[in-house]
Amino acid sequence: MKNGMGKMLLWTALAAALGTTSAPQAAESPSVHAQSRKMSPELIKKTQEESLKAIKRGEQLWLDRKLGSNGLNCNVCHPDAAATHPETYPKFKQQFGRVVTVQEFINWCIYVALRGPRQEIGGEMLTALESYQAYKNRGNALEIGFPGP
Ligand code: HEC
Repeated sequence: MKNGMGKMLLWTALAAALGTTSAPQAAESPSVHAQSRKMSPELIKKTQEESLKAIKRGEQLWLDRKLGSNGLNCNVCHPDAAATHPETYPKFKQQFGRVVTVQEFINWCIYVALRGPRQEIGGEMLTALESYQAYKNRGNALEIGFPGP
């Protein structure tokens, strides 16, 4: 029960912070509950706070026209993280000629679409952008490898 409440608190906080109302179905999946049962209340709180911080940082970056050099931001082409399909990664992308993670492809958009500097994989910036786009696409079923954009 306690862990289920923890989940609900996270989504309530996120929804309030980002101005949305619906909690995702995925948060209620049995495997999430089974894992959470081992977590201490302190760790649950820390996880929620830090994850929320990364999502909010990602939202700022998403709208930042100084990320690259051409005055665009992610939102111009991906309003509210549309058409980013994080649930399909890792997958093959022809630009790389191999299977890539979503951070590698975000980086591609930074240096190709925004004409900005390549960022460190696992660094603060790409992780925040990934956090935001994952949050905005929550509830989508994982479809690893599904071709797109
Ligand atoms: C000028 C338009 C433009 C901007 C700005 C842009 N993108 Fe993209 N983005 C695209 C296009 C076009 C594709 C499809 C390329 C492909 O899949 O081969 C794409 C694809 C993606 C994908 C992969 C979608 C998939 O299904 O494979 C992600 C993730 C992504 N962009 C994230 C970002 C992020 C994050 C930013 C900001 C840092 C950004 N994009 C900025 C045009 C843009």
